[in-house]
Amino acid sequence: MENPLHKHGRFFDVWARFYRLTLFGLELRRIQRQALDRLKVVPGQRVLDLGCGPGDGAARIHQQGAVAIGLDYSQGMLLTAQKEAGLRGKLTRGDAGRLPFRDGAFDKIVCTNSFHHYPDHLASLREMRRVLKAGGLLVLVDPRQDNLFGRMAIELVEERIFGLKEVRIFPIARWRELLKDAGFAHARVEAGPIWQPVAWAEAFIEATA
Ligand SMILES: C[S@@+](CC[C@H](N)C(=O)[O-])C[C@H]1O[C@@H](n2cnc3c(N)ncnc32)[C@H](O)[C@@H]1O
Repeated sequence: MENPLHKHGRFFDVWARFYRLTLFGLELRRIQRQALDRLKVVPGQRVLDLGCGPGDGAARIHQQGAVAIGLDYSQGMLLTAQKEAGLRGKLTRGDAGRLPFRDGAFDKIVCTNSFHHYPDHLASLREMRRVLKAGGLLVLVDPRQDNLFGRMAIELVEERIFGLKEVRIFPIARWRELLKDAGFAHARVEAGPIWQPVAWAEAFIEATA
C-alpha cells in the first residue's frame, strides 16, 4: 500500500501550480486571514504555520514582525512559498506527525485546512502541544464532520473523487475531546459564521497549551 504521506504530498505538488487561481483557493485564503486575526501575532514572536501551503499565511506573519516558520510536506507547495518575501530559509519540509522542532519552540501555531490530511491526528495534535510554549496559542481551522458541506468537500470530493481515502474530519464535540487528550489546557471550538458557507463548514479552534 502506498504511504499516505507521499500520496497526499503528490496531490498537493500538483495543486500547488494553480492553488491560488481557483475560487475555492481564494475562499481558503479568506479563512486563513480570519485564523490569523484570531492568532493576534505580536512582533518578535516565533510563529509556526503548519501545513503552510503556498506561504501566504507565513508571509503575512512575517509582515507583522514575527519570526515566521512554515512547514509543509509538499515540495511543490514549498517551492511556491519560497518566492514569498521573508520566507527564504524559514521553510521546512516535514510531517505534522513528527515536527522537527524542540519542545516549546513557538509562541503560536496556525494550521488552516491541512489537519484532515494528517496520517495520525492525535499524534499531530500532541506534537503541536509539545512545540508550543506553556500558555502558547494554537489556532486551527478544518472542515467539520457535523456539517453537510464539510462532509461533501472532504468525504465526497477529496476521499471518493480524488481517492484520498485517509482524510478524516471530526464533529465539534469530538474536537473538544481530541484537544483535551492532546494535553491542551483550554480550548474553544466553534463553527465559522453562517453567512460564509465555506467558513461555516469549518471548525474554528483556539487552544491554549
Ligand atoms: C489545502 S492546503 C492549505 C494550505 C494553507 N494552510 C491554506 O490555508 O491555504 C493543505 C496543506 O497541508 C499540507 N499537508 C498535508 N499533509 C501534511 C502533513 N502530514 N504534514 C505537513 N503538511 C501537510 C499539504 O501539502 C498542503 O500544502
